[in-house]
Amino acid sequence: MKKTILVLLLCVLPLFCYAEYPVTGHAQVSGDGKVAAASVNPDATTIAMNVVKRGGNAVDAAIAIAFALGVVDPHNSGIGGGCFILVRLADGRVIAIDGREMAPAAAHRDMFVQDGKANPELSRTGALAIGVPGSVLALHKLQREGGKLNFSDVILPAAELAEKGFAVSPLVADRMVSTAKELQKFPATAAIYLDKSQQPFAANTIITNQDLAHTYRELARLGPDYFYRGDFARKTAEWMKKNNGLVTRDDFANYQIKLREPIVSQFAGYTLYGFPPPSSGGIHVAQILNILENFDLHKTTSSERYHLMAEAMKFAFADRAHWLGDSDFVKVPLSLTDKTYAKKIARQIQLDKAVNNAVHGDPDLDIPHLMNKHTTHIAAADLEGNWVAITSTINTTFGSKVVIPGTGVVMNNQMDDFSAQAGAANAFGLVGSDANAIAAKKRPLSSMSPTIVFKDNQPVMTLGAAGGPTIISQVVQNLLYTLEFNMPAEIAIKQPRIHEQWSPDLLFVEPTMHEQVRNALVQKGHEVKLWPNMGFSQIIQLRDGKLVPVAEPRVIK
Ligand code: GLY
Repeated sequence: MKKTILVLLLCVLPLFCYAEYPVTGHAQVSGDGKVAAASVNPDATTIAMNVVKRGGNAVDAAIAIAFALGVVDPHNSGIGGGCFILVRLADGRVIAIDGREMAPAAAHRDMFVQDGKANPELSRTGALAIGVPGSVLALHKLQREGGKLNFSDVILPAAELAEKGFAVSPLVADRMVSTAKELQKFPATAAIYLDKSQQPFAANTIITNQDLAHTYRELARLGPDYFYRGDFARKTAEWMKKNNGLVTRDDFANYQIKLREPIVSQFAGYTLYGFPPPSSGGIHVAQILNILENFDLHKTTSSERYHLMAEAMKFAFADRAHWLGDSDFVKVPLSLTDKTYAKKIARQIQLDKAVNNAVHGDPDLDIPHLMNKHTTHIAAADLEGNWVAITSTINTTFGSKVVIPGTGVVMNNQMDDFSAQAGAANAFGLVGSDANAIAAKKRPLSSMSPTIVFKDNQPVMTLGAAGGPTIISQVVQNLLYTLEFNMPAEIAIKQPRIHEQWSPDLLFVEPTMHEQVRNALVQKGHEVKLWPNMGFSQIIQLRDGKLVPVAEPRVIK
């Protein structure tokens, strides 16, 4: 009773209230306290810890998790998709590895337009939805840059798991139910992810993926060439030909990862490294925080604080829709992260009323190279000093729903992250402009926001999130609560989340937000929509010299 009164008071006063979630086992620290890892799946995190026991460091652990998630969490990520990797290595280098999918060479601007209208079915399910995957090459690069073990050492534990069998997690079981009808359309997919009667597996059923185990073993033996020039590329190209897809063996052979300049910004006395285009994440996380720092958030009430966050997000997402795309193809104004530009936006935001006609702004196109402001200081962290943030995806649940026969690999539907047509929304309701139009070999715009935080040139936090465009708002909120309000990550992560992406102009809030605060937001003019369990964040903080990993509590059913 006392606790309830306290929580209510915290909600009404200019403080915080948060939901209680069950404690998770998805975040682990090695026995000697030297390496920490957090993921959405405890089996994947355990594999990472086993890799550490065999002499691996945080880089090895992160890569082992990436391969293991392809087995136990196949609806979200895997080698059929892409990823962005931000890593701060023990030698002080910060590297941003772009392993985003590329459109095949035969892709073209109107490939999803039928009878004058974008057909979302084509960009989301089946052959045309698939971009050339980048995760294998990106993870391999990361291994070479910072791993202690061999590439095979970090793949084979996942191969073994796929072979011997693993439990279908409640989360995966839930996603199997929601996509069963589409999975049924692809026999190689149904053979793995549906039972003999073509129905979803119950949670905790033990299943195997023998084809994926074989693919992983071949990758371990032959390296990325197996994927990009060998059997994997051949099998995929053959399947594409039979199914009216565009991806060819040449597309695989021509796939390239890119090393990008991270977005570097300052907030609350910390230096943030974020991921640049083709992600919109780094730019807009920095932009939203820049806007918010124009307000004294410590003097606002809960509803005012959420309102300001929502308004800042609204303006940032308006800019995203207009300006953002693959910077190899279009000029993305780096001054979107400029503090003066943020101030201009902040002046348009009122404390008591939502702006209902936000439009993209006109950042100064000529402010040079904000992205180049990155630290060159070498940190001598305790432990080893490797800080890794990987956000990896096959896009929406089970991606294109296609498993290429004989490979066990679920292929992405990342082509849907392009803007198929002006005004046409993608699966996340995001609209885009020419900047994100489809073109051969272009990379679709992303919201993935792997982020590493430094204090006095020393890494102190690594974080990121999953959940489409809510990735940006989750990362913003986690940074705001930990850096500005000094909350421990395990408290920050439990705060009721909000998300506003300009189009549609709705304010999504978690039902854990107190009703009185929600009502106050409605009174300010927001159209509030409830959205339970918004996204999945993972955070590792350095506190008093100790690594504290925090996994998303909302993942637990
Ligand atoms: N596919 C989701 C994203 O990259 O933002």
